[in-house]
Amino acid sequence: MRDANPGTIYLKDYQAPNYLINRTELHFVLGEEETLVTSRLHLLRNTENGDSSELILDGQDLELVEIYLDGDVLDPSCYEVGEATLVLRDLPEQCLLSCVTRIRPQLNTSLEGLYRSQTMFCTQCEAEGFRKITYYLDRPDVMSVFTVTIDADADRYPVLLSNGNLEETSPLANGLTRVLWHDPFPKPSYLFALVAGDLEHIEDSFTTCSGREVALRIYVEEKDIDKCDHAMDSLKRSMRWDEEVFGREYDLDIFNVVAVDDFNMGAMENKSLNIFNTSCVLCDPNTTTDVGYQRVEAIVAHEYFHNWSGNRVTCRDWFQLSLKEGFTVFRDAEFSSDMGSRTVKRVEDVTLLRSAQFAEDAGPMAHPVRPESYIEINNFYTLTVYEKGAEVVRMIHTLLGPQAFRAGSDLYFARHDGQAVTCEDFVLAMEEASGVDLGQFRNWYSQAGTPRLTVTDAWNEEAGSYALTISQSCPATPGQDDKKPFVIPVAMGLLGDAGNLRLQLQGEAPDPDTEDNTHMVLMVDKPEQTFVFEGLPEKPVPSLLRGFSAPVRLEFDYSRNDLCRLMSGDDDGFVRWDSAQSLAVSVITEVQAQLLAGDEAQVDPLFLEACGALLQDDALDPAMLAEMLSLPSENYLAELAGEGAADVQGIYRARTAVLAAVGSHCREALEQRYAQLAVEANYAATGEQIAARSLRAVCLNYLAAAGASGLALANAQFAAADNITERLAALRVLSQFGSRSDWEAPMAKFYEDWGHETLAVNQWLAVQASMPDDGAIARVRHLMEHPDFDLRNPNKVRSLVGTFAGQNPLNFHREDGSGYRLLRQVVAELNSINPQIASRLLAPLTKWRYYQGRAEQMRSELELLASMDGLSPDVFEVVSKSLK
Ligand code: PHE
Ligand code: ZN
Repeated sequence: MRDANPGTIYLKDYQAPNYLINRTELHFVLGEEETLVTSRLHLLRNTENGDSSELILDGQDLELVEIYLDGDVLDPSCYEVGEATLVLRDLPEQCLLSCVTRIRPQLNTSLEGLYRSQTMFCTQCEAEGFRKITYYLDRPDVMSVFTVTIDADADRYPVLLSNGNLEETSPLANGLTRVLWHDPFPKPSYLFALVAGDLEHIEDSFTTCSGREVALRIYVEEKDIDKCDHAMDSLKRSMRWDEEVFGREYDLDIFNVVAVDDFNMGAMENKSLNIFNTSCVLCDPNTTTDVGYQRVEAIVAHEYFHNWSGNRVTCRDWFQLSLKEGFTVFRDAEFSSDMGSRTVKRVEDVTLLRSAQFAEDAGPMAHPVRPESYIEINNFYTLTVYEKGAEVVRMIHTLLGPQAFRAGSDLYFARHDGQAVTCEDFVLAMEEASGVDLGQFRNWYSQAGTPRLTVTDAWNEEAGSYALTISQSCPATPGQDDKKPFVIPVAMGLLGDAGNLRLQLQGEAPDPDTEDNTHMVLMVDKPEQTFVFEGLPEKPVPSLLRGFSAPVRLEFDYSRNDLCRLMSGDDDGFVRWDSAQSLAVSVITEVQAQLLAGDEAQVDPLFLEACGALLQDDALDPAMLAEMLSLPSENYLAELAGEGAADVQGIYRARTAVLAAVGSHCREALEQRYAQLAVEANYAATGEQIAARSLRAVCLNYLAAAGASGLALANAQFAAADNITERLAALRVLSQFGSRSDWEAPMAKFYEDWGHETLAVNQWLAVQASMPDDGAIARVRHLMEHPDFDLRNPNKVRSLVGTFAGQNPLNFHREDGSGYRLLRQVVAELNSINPQIASRLLAPLTKWRYYQGRAEQMRSELELLASMDGLSPDVFEVVSKSLK
């Protein structure tokens, strides 16, 4: 923590390091009070970068005990210990620098560096946590071969792990045990990891495509040993998939995963020693929902895929974060699509992008996929860098086609193996392998904000031609007032009465190969462009942005009838879903206006019938149907309302009224689907069972919104369920639509039965945090006093306070400001405990521009935070940028 205003770091100031660290030897003595770390850094001046003999190492919260240069005690005149640095002067060109530092993992609540989680020691070094372990060039472009020895009490810590291969285990005279690990692959410090604990493990093996055996182990606390199988299966599937689809083979003989309870993020790709948040690796039907099972598979894959996209080829600096994250999210999304339903996966990803990333792009922290500056890098592990970054990679895939994309990926990995590179290097490899010019496309990396496409059409009956005029614009974002046009691939088709029409662009030769070309990608790269289609028998309905081919907002003035036609008749699953969403948005907005005017809600019968028709459509995958029948979230509706216009109460009432109307109109069909889809078999996280449960949950939600019979079904479901997915679905419905007498007993029963399972308790907290009733704030405050709550555990904080602020708009935005106050108080307290979590939790308050009549109250809480003493750089950056 710094007291003065922390400074800004700029991409344009990047300089290569003036020393390299070819080898790094670390020795840890783990103790109950303190840990001693001895480093031996084999330094070599980087003559490419000038000839300075001064070296500035990073170090934070360290106590320097001893320091040697080439074996001799270093004279104090040769170095200076600063707040966050160790400055060394007059260093020779090549030398061995050795430091002993004392650290106190037991007191480290930031969960960066070396810290305690439950009874174990573990590390988290990305992005800049290694400097809390020892003095180092803690930057990703310094890659070093690490050798690590750990001395520890083997009774308390029988499992002692680090990166690479275990070379030796030996008892020491002092009663401790020593282990020695060596990682042959040079890596930056952020990929270093160490774990010490009393852990159990499951073991399996994988034979790589070239025939090497890899030992796979997942380490957990003994109580969780039965919850590892799904992660292990996911790991093996990921390894095979990466060989088959990207030609990437694993490179060591061992791959370890460790689960820890206290973790700031989901998981971490440390070389051969991935560390996971328990919530992202453990699976059990009674603690993990269907969505949770799918998330575990995706995150296991994501971390594994980093071994190539991140570790073998890493980032030159943290501005390039999306180089590894965007690419790896793209890779894990492709993996999930191949393992399950591609369309459903796409719909889920787009929902997240639109409801949260678009808001980030429109808010005070908006930044390009490759940011140009930051105060605290931890604030830039964002939806923009991850999800929008993945969309940018997906667009490259669309522009190049699958084969050239794969050639580009192969070239990138071959050319840059063992290097720390930039987004530009990635784009260059893609260009060179494909011959496609990505010049203007690069604007996606440098410009923030969500582009808006406005589309109009003109039908010429006589000529049988149809013109689409597409114009693009992008709103100003902090520091970027004027934007250059993007290259936007718009995948599309034209829908006629009897289905999709043949596409023939004016001025282009007909494609002889495809008789039936009903799909095409328009390249939009100018402020305005017109595309004319010829030879059409009738005026079509345009099917636009198929597969969500670009992360943009698209506006076209569809009639509700057009939307219904797309919804039932388009070729593209995404467009079918999207049309259902647009229809729902327009109906909810209409009802909101009716209610505001004091009228009764009149839900357009067209919509009710469209829902009815969907429910009768037996050809549709139930998982897809569940998505199509899910109304847009309150947050998305608020975002669509635009700045200063979101009325959370109005949105809530209108959305609930529409739910109830569909629930009554379609009661029979809903009840029938609900009954038909009951899963008789024992719980399994198979695609088929998951689809059935998700559609049942949607039906139950409508039925409960419509009245008592739905609540009775929910009650019965809760009692009969053999898994947490159905239990929580029932609890959610009861607590959203029922009164106290409906939810009180099952809520208590859930805790009684599953209170011993941390991950189940977290979800129980989350359900209560999102209840819409007036008691919500008092309930959240009360739960913060619950013995199972702990402000130092990020999962608890996210479940209770994060869910409240992010998923309970009605109560977070209460008129009396009590929701804002609650969040501010928690952030203030967390600021000194865990700045990273404090700053993330704050995000909902930064959206103050959106909410009708709330700006002053929201701002004043931000101002209170701004005036606090000892503000962390993390919170300072978010608060100060939001108040601008
Ligand atoms: N690099 C991790 C991932 O995306 C995320 C992470 C970042 C974890 C920072 C911890 C700290 O897989
Ligand atoms: Zn990642």
